[in-house]
Amino acid sequence: MCDILATAPQSMTTEIPASECEKEAAARASIPFVHNGDIVGLGTGSTAAHAIRLLGERVKAGLKINGIPTSTKTRELAELAGIPLTTLDEYQEIDITIDGADEFNPELQLIKGGGGALLREKVIASASKQVVIIADSSKQVEVLGKFALPVEVIPFAQALVAREIENLGASVKLRKFAYGNPFVTDEGHHILDCGFGKIADPPALAHALKNIPGVVEHGLFINLASAVLVAKGAKVVELRRGVKASARLPTT
Ligand code: 5RP
Repeated sequence: MCDILATAPQSMTTEIPASECEKEAAARASIPFVHNGDIVGLGTGSTAAHAIRLLGERVKAGLKINGIPTSTKTRELAELAGIPLTTLDEYQEIDITIDGADEFNPELQLIKGGGGALLREKVIASASKQVVIIADSSKQVEVLGKFALPVEVIPFAQALVAREIENLGASVKLRKFAYGNPFVTDEGHHILDCGFGKIADPPALAHALKNIPGVVEHGLFINLASAVLVAKGAKVVELRRGVKASARLPTT
């Protein structure tokens, strides 16, 4: 039984989706990748939150690391977990980043940004020697694009950028909070969620999006993931680019 089920009040256990245990299993499998002395990029989202909690437990047990969070939310979680933090101003080379993803394909190309932190996540991933992506089985796809691609834009240009992206074939929605105001990223930008359907050529689309003035960053992560740890039930499979999958036993 995963930690979440084991610790939840019995009345709640039927409401906890199986994917939550997969997220925790993938996060747990990422912990042995982190070593004493590492500068660790801390991802954002519900899967990364498990890794932060588990890393916090390792820190309490004596692991010496410094984390660089990819969002305000993650900073708060890391502080709560007792992980010492540092900044990109102090370190421009990160040993390992652990982060989630909204989708990944067999080439380990990713869609990220569902949690709105794609800009800082991409900066941190780009500065990392190793990027370990942790995911439940729902994130694995043959072709990226079922999940609408988040694109971070400057608010001034959002309508113009939305039109340009529609011209590339997407249906575009400005991300909003439930109460109607636009979602604002940690860097003060807005997010356009862009439904492209199946993305046949992710690098080409990444290039086209980067060429639109007003686009700050997009959620296609190409050649950034070193490994994906995907949980299928209690089993976690490690995928590497161009390398056959290997099964890992869940670590206890
Ligand atoms: C945040 C992200 C997240 O990693 C992605 O949205 C996956 O989130 P979750 O682990 O909650 O499914 O890219 O910007």
